[in-house]
Amino acid sequence: MVKDMQTIMNFCKSKGFMYQGSEIYGGIANVWDFGPLGCRLKNNIKDAWRKRYIQERENSYEIDASILMHPRVWEASGHVASFYDPKIDCKSCQTRFRADNFITDISNGKVNGDGLTYEEMEQYIEKNNIKCPVCGKHDFTKIRKFSQMFETYRGKTEEDKSIIYLRPENAQGEYVNFLNVQRTMRAKLPFSIGQIGKAFRNEITPGNFNFRTIEFEQMEFQTFCKKGKDSEIYNYFKEYAKKYFMDLGLSENNLRFHDHEKLAHYAKEACDIEYNFPFGWGEINGTHNRTDYDLKRHQEFSGKNMEYFDQDTNEKYIPYIIESTIGPDRTVLALLCEAYTEENLNDEIRVVLKLNPILAPYKIAVLPLTKKQTEKSKEILKELSYYFMCMYDEAGTIGKRYRRQDEIGTPYCITVDYDTEVDNCVTVRDRDTMKQERVNICELVKYINSKLNKYKI
Ligand code: GAP
Repeated sequence: MVKDMQTIMNFCKSKGFMYQGSEIYGGIANVWDFGPLGCRLKNNIKDAWRKRYIQERENSYEIDASILMHPRVWEASGHVASFYDPKIDCKSCQTRFRADNFITDISNGKVNGDGLTYEEMEQYIEKNNIKCPVCGKHDFTKIRKFSQMFETYRGKTEEDKSIIYLRPENAQGEYVNFLNVQRTMRAKLPFSIGQIGKAFRNEITPGNFNFRTIEFEQMEFQTFCKKGKDSEIYNYFKEYAKKYFMDLGLSENNLRFHDHEKLAHYAKEACDIEYNFPFGWGEINGTHNRTDYDLKRHQEFSGKNMEYFDQDTNEKYIPYIIESTIGPDRTVLALLCEAYTEENLNDEIRVVLKLNPILAPYKIAVLPLTKKQTEKSKEILKELSYYFMCMYDEAGTIGKRYRRQDEIGTPYCITVDYDTEVDNCVTVRDRDTMKQERVNICELVKYINSKLNKYKI
């Protein structure tokens, strides 16, 4: 596991996992672009989520709702009225802090800022003569509300422009489509709607690499159920998410549950799964019992009846919602931190990215021993690329090429050598054990599949 964020940031940039957004213009703060390897890794995480949350579950439906929604959605959801963070500015150096996190950090976690009112936070800063960590002065503004919603405008002319928001969570896309999905899929409770998509938040203090950004993705999953079944389903999905993370490759020691003390405006019970990042514990998942709050509010604001007719009991009621939400961007970061390994090998450091092979950006690297094997290697590459993400590399010594693949987590290196022409076999090298096996080219697809099947998520 990696010990510090700087190592992982340098690694991501140099190997093509993540780059600073708009880098050639000097970058844009806290915006990151996924490079070819990061993009593959994130897609594999999303595929694993789809399999686990949609494909393997009965009555689970995936949708792809729009980022832009009717502005009334955000009034109904409560975001317009209460999606605020407490901000505080240093008057001396103008650095802006999110007050609750600032207090938690400055007290080394002894005080949970999240549980304090604005007044209590101001008193804490005053009483303890807290200094600005940037300039060292104790000269702060009062704490004020800072909206996390990104606004934009739409309209035919400058005069009739009206505000429209970039969605701050995916969930409302699932809620406004509750009736559509229920009717078209003839779904009976309990059933679930999930989606993967972008969300946007004007975070006061983004940071810790791509942990807290202003544009990010969410994999959200809403289970609609009858009141009374809600707590059981809530507890079930807490464990379900933990198992998903462990199957991806995060170790149990580095995961913990964190029950919310201060509940969001919609929640009856809420719990995060946190990962032990090099900078400390950070949320990667949330399970929320949102009760019937959201659907009731949409009924009230839209005028549409959101009731479900229960054929088993002949009752009509508004379902409760249990939400399980995961951030794929943070999951990428957690997996990279977990998988990054430095090993001592013959007095040299071997960097190995010990990712679950199913998540590895490339499954196979095809390596001709010398340029003489180029033609045969390209032939094998073409054949294997039909089944797997493959890479080709003929630059440098074979040892160096193995190291390059170890670093980016490629589980299998296939070397085409002088004997290949004679015995129609290649050497397959395992990333973790570094052991090599001779395999007939005709058996390669079967061989790799049988290896990968052991890691299926
Ligand atoms: N619909 C509920 C909801 O949005 P949340 O806990 O605010 O709940 C869900 O967000 C997940 O989205 C988090 O567990 C986290 O993984 C991810 N997430 C939230 N804010 C983020 C940010 N600023 N940057 C990156 N990921 C974020």
